[in-house]
Amino acid sequence: MALAMALAMAAISLSTARFLDDSSAISMVIDGISPARFTELLGEGHKVARFHEFATRHKRVYGSLVELRERFVTFSRNLELIEETNRKELPYTLAVNQFADMSWEEFKKHNLFSSQNCSATTTNSVRAFLTPPSKKDWRDDKIVSPVKNQQHCGSCWTFSTTGALESAHAQATGKMVVLSEQQLVDCAGGYNNFGCNGGLPSQAFEYIRYNGGLDTEDSYPYTGHDGKCTYNQNSIGAKVYDVVNITEGAEDELIHAVAFNRPVSIAYEVLKDFRFYKSGVYTSNVCGTGPDTVNHAVLAVGYNRDAPVPYWIIKNSWGESFGLDGYFYMEMGKNMCGIATCASYPVVPEDFN
Ligand SMILES: *[C@@H]1O[C@H](CO)[C@@H](O)[C@H](O)[C@H]1NC(C)=O
Ligand SMILES: *[C@@H]1O[C@H](CO)[C@@H](O)[C@H](O)[C@H]1NC(C)=O
Repeated sequence: MALAMALAMAAISLSTARFLDDSSAISMVIDGISPARFTELLGEGHKVARFHEFATRHKRVYGSLVELRERFVTFSRNLELIEETNRKELPYTLAVNQFADMSWEEFKKHNLFSSQNCSATTTNSVRAFLTPPSKKDWRDDKIVSPVKNQQHCGSCWTFSTTGALESAHAQATGKMVVLSEQQLVDCAGGYNNFGCNGGLPSQAFEYIRYNGGLDTEDSYPYTGHDGKCTYNQNSIGAKVYDVVNITEGAEDELIHAVAFNRPVSIAYEVLKDFRFYKSGVYTSNVCGTGPDTVNHAVLAVGYNRDAPVPYWIIKNSWGESFGLDGYFYMEMGKNMCGIATCASYPVVPEDFN
């Protein structure tokens, strides 16, 4: 009781916050709370200080004191995971990012897809009889669009798809046209895709191919929610002529495709720690490599085999603040986390526009 009173009094004096009681849903802008007030509400210690820093930076709004405390418990667990992992001196590091107040269950539910079985994807990829260069980065060729943000929707597969098609289109036409994820979320269901609940780039390319095109981002903007299909054939930004699927697990084929063709859509398994990736080469002994364990689709835009730990250069869709300006590196040569299990890329028509 005394504690509740003290908390209530502390809360009342917050400049931008007001609590009627512990469960009231009055929104509280963390921004306006000083570290001292935060300590009064949550206690002392480095975790409280880090949580304050986090909540301020990410402009968190929590509905009540109860939620504030719950988020702090979750944040503390995530901080422990981050600090423990960093102490192991692995080839990669983790850091607190925008996901640090979400539990792993919440993250999986809102940001990943539940497993999509990609073993129905047959291959038609042909390997060149050339030796791939020791490194390649398609960003140097100016055919990779800026990093985007899927927000809380399991639509990674649409970003992987637009990323690959934007690159293919830019490579073929010399023009960077930014394409619509929302059209894929809303309209590609006939090809075994499920909007915010997941899908596969190979199936999305097939949809675009038979639909006759994909609208521009400007004409069909992203909402991050499942919606009604409003595809407009007068706003098409790119078309797909054919789709190349990499043989399941054939990482050497993937290397050839990225080295000699263009960026390739890939899927892999995100584990708990990966969502806090900050830098270095991600590696894991525990992630799966099978067609039914992948839960996130992204875009391989290059690789580097000259590095001490050879790595893929991968574009993510969790905003620019994730990892290395929105990108991450993943260890090469072990089909790490299933990176070559479910890979494909589009071929665009020569004569678009
Ligand atoms: C995945 O699909 C393949 C081929 O359709 C099937 O044999 C396999 O049982 C499926 N796996 C799961 C986990 O659904
Ligand atoms: C590539 O994969 C897609 C989706 O699984 C499938 O529909 C298509 O038939 C495959 N293409 C080839 C040439 O096997």
